[in-house]
Amino acid sequence: MLHRGIPVLAALFICSGAAAAQNLDSLLRQMTLEEKLGQLNLLSADGRASPPQMQLVRAGKLGGLFNVIGAENTTPVQRIAVTESRLKIPLLFGLDVIHGYRTIFPIPLGEASAFDPEVAEATARAAGLEAAAAGINWTYAPMVDIARDPRWGRIAEGSGEDPYLGSVLAAARVRGFQQSIFATVKHFAGYGAAEAGREYNETEISERTMREIYLPPFKAAIDAGVASLMTAFNSIAGVPASANAWLTDTVLRREWGFNGFVVSDWTSVAELMPHGIAGPPADAGRAALTAGVDMDMMSSIYVSDSMAALVRSSRIPLAVVDTAVMRILRAKQRLGLFRDPYRARTAPATAESRALARRAARESIVLLKNQRNLLPLDPKTATIAVIGPLADNKLDPLGPWHTQGRAEDVVTVLQGIRAKASASQVVYAQGSAIDDTVTAGIGAAVAAAKRATVAVLVLGERHDMSGEAASRAELGLPGVQQQLLEAVAATGTPVVLVLMNGRPLILEWAAQHVPAIVETWYLGVEAGNATADVLFGDYNPSGKLPVTFPRALGQVPVYYNHRNTGRPMQPQNKFSSKYIDVPNEPRYPFGFGLSYTTFAYRDLRLSTARARVSDTVTATVTVANTGTREGTEVVQLYVRDEVASVSRPVRELKAFRRVALRPNESRNVELKIAVRDLWFIGLDMKPVVEPGTFRVFVGPNSAEGLEATFECIP
Ligand code: NOJ
Repeated sequence: MLHRGIPVLAALFICSGAAAAQNLDSLLRQMTLEEKLGQLNLLSADGRASPPQMQLVRAGKLGGLFNVIGAENTTPVQRIAVTESRLKIPLLFGLDVIHGYRTIFPIPLGEASAFDPEVAEATARAAGLEAAAAGINWTYAPMVDIARDPRWGRIAEGSGEDPYLGSVLAAARVRGFQQSIFATVKHFAGYGAAEAGREYNETEISERTMREIYLPPFKAAIDAGVASLMTAFNSIAGVPASANAWLTDTVLRREWGFNGFVVSDWTSVAELMPHGIAGPPADAGRAALTAGVDMDMMSSIYVSDSMAALVRSSRIPLAVVDTAVMRILRAKQRLGLFRDPYRARTAPATAESRALARRAARESIVLLKNQRNLLPLDPKTATIAVIGPLADNKLDPLGPWHTQGRAEDVVTVLQGIRAKASASQVVYAQGSAIDDTVTAGIGAAVAAAKRATVAVLVLGERHDMSGEAASRAELGLPGVQQQLLEAVAATGTPVVLVLMNGRPLILEWAAQHVPAIVETWYLGVEAGNATADVLFGDYNPSGKLPVTFPRALGQVPVYYNHRNTGRPMQPQNKFSSKYIDVPNEPRYPFGFGLSYTTFAYRDLRLSTARARVSDTVTATVTVANTGTREGTEVVQLYVRDEVASVSRPVRELKAFRRVALRPNESRNVELKIAVRDLWFIGLDMKPVVEPGTFRVFVGPNSAEGLEATFECIP
């Protein structure tokens, strides 16, 4: 299920071969230095190319443009490139197609909750097709940054904290996008480790942690055939990622054999100056280009006269420029642009995309709490009070990066509920805004709750409170929403808290006082229908958290795959690794999510007690649906290397499977562990699988499960 088929890139963008490669060589020979540097230059348009940008295209001084929206705008610029420029080299047209183009799917962090690579591939495919029909041939996705700190707003755009889940989804999204457009895996690397969760901040990541935690999803994207890679803004131990030859040359090209091209992030080449590793702009350009950053997004430094002067004086070897140019030209050739520069495509039918959006949205919902089975709601419930600033909100469900998504396309939660209940059953009160201090609306909300059988409160963050440049130092509900929640709960009417947010929130009061909590992230255009499907039980929630929810900010960073320490927590032992004021355990662990049914795990057995590195161990567990509804369980397998030369995490996810079971049905579920995947970075900084005992856990989340062991033998 996880690694099907050959890389899509190889399958679809077939136009290399010796003859074509030779043509590129001869094209390179015809290029002036300015034209070569021009291919390495990438600028953003504001919807359409400006006259000065068109002039650059004519002069051969642009390799690509991004944020040109619509084929009616890309086509004329491409025409200039292929008919009016001297060498007629086509342009790349980029765009941040993150989780949908016009049809907006759940944000990547939300979609990661589905633990469903098939859905991730399908939504990326649909997004790519819609974008391609609008003239786009290159997206800046997937973002695969591992994030262990919910203060960092960009956590919304990735797959959470786990390298294995992140790798599986990275590969799936690359396969999906690259059925029609080029994908870009980003941000290389360590961007999610921003100190204190503050956007763009520096990072300190050991080489071991970099290789074990942060790099694997990039490698997975590359193995899936991703065409390009974007460098990150941050520095790692003082070396900015956009001038980091260890990352973009040693690891990326020499070790992994990546043969696509590398693009900087927005002005990250120029930012080498404030980072303090370059004086004048050309020094920044030289540092980035010689480190392996082929294309300069938005700094315009590669095309500067001073950069050309450095090449002419051989302070930048011409071979470095030629190599970068060839990578761009080869990419354009693989994409088929020399043959078909306009790439007219038809978008998928809207109905099909909306059905997919609803499926992805339903699967992304995580049921966090459901005391006394308050959910699902009985469709005959006398009165449902729908309350909250996000209840009838059409913009925020689109999430922080919604490209061409439109509020008018969104079904709100209120609309979704109304579609399933009669008008007389539903009362609505906004209660408050998302983040101002006005409490005037709370009274009406309380009044609505008082006359209702159940209150559904839809609370959370505004869409732009996560995503880029949206770090938060407080992770509670913004504004007066906590006050609204407590006031409504005080009525005694049972409360269902529906959350919309782009990061884990700290929800202690709600976790203790609210009977039902449903995490919906930002679900996209079908948010309201999918949420109502879950609230009324038309869909039994199956999502699991791809990231840990802390109890207190002081626990951050908190993640499941931590090492044990020499003094693991013992409640009675003061001198063990713990806090004196909060437990070590998070509020909700990685992999956690409830269902309207219950699942029992029994009889975990391994295919062998002893295995060599070349072997695969099969774990089989019997999973039974012990409740009264049909449901899907995400069965998770974790491994712990008990004794190794380097302290290893207490658990690491190594496999998972979605299993659908009818009431009373039980099934033997098999999960495979390739022993070679149990590598870590040894004392000599090389990957190694060491002989010894491995503990295997199979269960419903990272904190529970049955256990078995096997020995890895030399
Ligand atoms: C900055 C972001 O960090 C990056 O992810 C994005 O692709 C570029 N801007 C282009 O919009």
